[in-house]
Amino acid sequence: MTRSQLLTRQKDYSRSAKEGEPLFFFEKDDDMKTKVIAVDEIKPDKLVMKEAADIIKSGNLVSFPTETVYGLGADGLNEKAVKKIFEAKGRPQDNPLILHVDSVEMAEQLVLEVPPAAKLCIDKFWPGPLTILFRRREIVPDIITAGLDTVAIRMPSHPVAISLIRHSGTPIAAPSANTSGKPSPTKAEHVFEDMNGKIPLILDGGETGVGLESTVLDLTGQVPMILRPGGITLEDIRSILPDAIVDPAVISGDEKLKPKSPGQKYRHYAPKATMILVQGRPEKVVEEIKRLAAIAEIDGQKVGIMSSSENVLKYLPKVVRDMGSVDDAKEIAHRLFDIIRELDRENTDLILCEAVDDSGLGMAIMNRLLKAAGGKLVRV
Ligand code: TXA
Ligand code: MG
Repeated sequence: MTRSQLLTRQKDYSRSAKEGEPLFFFEKDDDMKTKVIAVDEIKPDKLVMKEAADIIKSGNLVSFPTETVYGLGADGLNEKAVKKIFEAKGRPQDNPLILHVDSVEMAEQLVLEVPPAAKLCIDKFWPGPLTILFRRREIVPDIITAGLDTVAIRMPSHPVAISLIRHSGTPIAAPSANTSGKPSPTKAEHVFEDMNGKIPLILDGGETGVGLESTVLDLTGQVPMILRPGGITLEDIRSILPDAIVDPAVISGDEKLKPKSPGQKYRHYAPKATMILVQGRPEKVVEEIKRLAAIAEIDGQKVGIMSSSENVLKYLPKVVRDMGSVDDAKEIAHRLFDIIRELDRENTDLILCEAVDDSGLGMAIMNRLLKAAGGKLVRV
């Protein structure tokens, strides 16, 4: 198929796209060379940041590190530029994007009001891994909000992200820089894996810190509601907004409930392998994982195991990855997506993963694991 035929097909498709379907099918552009430039994560080089900002200002995409995961950035006020994000990711068009700002003033330009609860959250958690929903102003393009009357905004704390926004002089729309459905990138290599040939520039600032995406908090309803658990925990939010809750559709596992955040209804973070979570008392969990692994191996399947540090040795000599100690949710969050990608690269057919305690940051970890596993959970 020639490029012009492809473009015609894309156009036709966009007119008939249904809910949950990508806006376009993207084919690799053989002429697009993806440049990767290393940047100091504390004090990024000004010239490099200017080059990156010029790409953003010219309506093109740049991937950059944040404290959570790598983002795929475009000028958030330029509809055409934002469209390219959907193309490069193969992202469903009804999934809205987060606008990243470098100051509260920039956020204020985008919203009708900053309610008192939001002021409290901003004071305590910005810059950082908290995304807040506001009532949007007209200036925010429809493609950002997927037609909703709210806009999601976050001020990242990563110096490279802040510098990119500052040099660009515009809010930057950025989803995680993975192909839709795959685990979010926590290293520039992950971005390259998914975006090579599709975007002009990746800023490599090393591994991201938190490793999971930001918490999405809706303050536009009756009660403060977490729509996506993330780097800031429910307990953190309750320390200033005691009546905060988590969207029941996100934690109940009841598929009939409709999540308030469009992104939560899709399968996400998914490895190519089948993934199963095993939950229960530690000895039982190890026993069950070994049993399931043995059955799969008889079937000729290659098995990968995601284990707590405490249990790693018990699974040897199988392919096993250490997620971190059960007492160190931060470490587990930090390593999670990298491990899932690694097990994919090892061509495993089945990934068996120990469930983690779902309090604190564990709630976000379990949310990602359950999505990665497509809800497959064995209790022992
Ligand atoms: O940590 C993060 O949040 C990363 C970095 C790059 O900042 N970004 C990120 O973006 O995870 P993305 O697009 O992968 O996830 C954004 C989530 C989606 O689940 C989306 O549905 C939700 O936020 N969202 C965005 N705008 C929304 C809105 N107006 N109402 C409800 N949910 C919204
Ligand atoms: Mg994402």
